[in-house]
Amino acid sequence: MTTIAVVEGDGIGHEVIPIARKVLEALHPEFEFFPVDVGYGMWERTGCPCADKEINALKTADAILFGAITTPPMKDYQSVVLRIRKALDLYANLRPVKAEGFDILIVRENTEGLYSGIEESGPDRATTLRVVTRKGSERIVRSAIRLTQRRSGRLTIGHKANVLKSDVLFRDICLHEARVAGVTFNDKYIDALALDLLQHPALYDVVVTTNIFGDILSDVASYLVGGLGLTPSANIGDRYALFEPVHGSAPDIAGRNIANPIAAIRSAAMLLDYLGDRDGASGVEIAIGTVISQGILTPDLGGSAGTREFGKAVIRSLIKNR
Ligand code: NAD
Ligand code: IPM
Ligand code: MN
Repeated sequence: MTTIAVVEGDGIGHEVIPIARKVLEALHPEFEFFPVDVGYGMWERTGCPCADKEINALKTADAILFGAITTPPMKDYQSVVLRIRKALDLYANLRPVKAEGFDILIVRENTEGLYSGIEESGPDRATTLRVVTRKGSERIVRSAIRLTQRRSGRLTIGHKANVLKSDVLFRDICLHEARVAGVTFNDKYIDALALDLLQHPALYDVVVTTNIFGDILSDVASYLVGGLGLTPSANIGDRYALFEPVHGSAPDIAGRNIANPIAAIRSAAMLLDYLGDRDGASGVEIAIGTVISQGILTPDLGGSAGTREFGKAVIRSLIKNR
């Protein structure tokens, strides 16, 4: 029995995740789904956005389908998303950005760097410790190398070693591991890389980088495919895996049935791939392409289809081609 934890979270999570779930149900009626409630709504009701009980529930699932969480307005706020990534040790954040002519996979370190959580804030000075470790760097670059080998491609290492000592360590470990593995590789400063990725996307394959740089780079790279409504992600560890759109809860458009559900549906496809259903995953991508080619588009892509209408069309296409 395959069990899937479903976290809608907040905002447009309530609109796009039910569609992604229906896609999974259409292909795998045998999957067992259970909801886990975390986030802003949970904080409003209980004063706690995510307790140990919810973390433990997530750990019982074979995979987690996740929407997005609005940052709750609390003092000493600890991000729910970061808490879950750390508690489940989801160290590899895979963010594919793919269209005709290019196929980029951003591999973002997901547990340390500027997201170490080691912080101090006073009235006149605040600090955040950027922690880069050998263990953290080795395991993320080794994941990136395995993916590069599977795609017979090239690895690009994104860093800021000209300024940050922590990135000298990250870069040197990545360069060493890439040489030992014998993959084709290069390295670039992250600022130049961000522009070059937009100007020459076809030159890139797998890009490995540290936590905050990967966060920013993946939003930037979403521009290449039409925006945040389209880019999915996988958060993978040795024991657990969570699949979520790159975008957030989008409070500016929430509740209006205009959010693009493609990023969430593609995240469900990545979940299928993780569970070994490659055909299901590619079938979902084909169904999305079919619906787009029929001119059914949400407003962010210049169309007038609603979130639900787009979702129904994808499921129709999936069932038809099964
Ligand atoms: P956002 O990604 O929610 O939205 C940025 C912009 O993109 C908005 O204009 C939004 O309308 C648009 N957008 C996002 N997803 C879209 C979609 N599917 N279809 C059409 N348009 C879409 O980022 P933000 O506004 O900076 O953050 C909002 C909240 O989300 C914050 O509380 C933030 O902390 C949170 N957040 C959560 C996650 C997560 O849970 N993984 C990720 C990012 C941001
Ligand atoms: C993302 C988000 C998160 C991040 C936030 C919500 C903690 O922006 O998943 O890209 O910074 O990783
Ligand atoms: Mn982000």
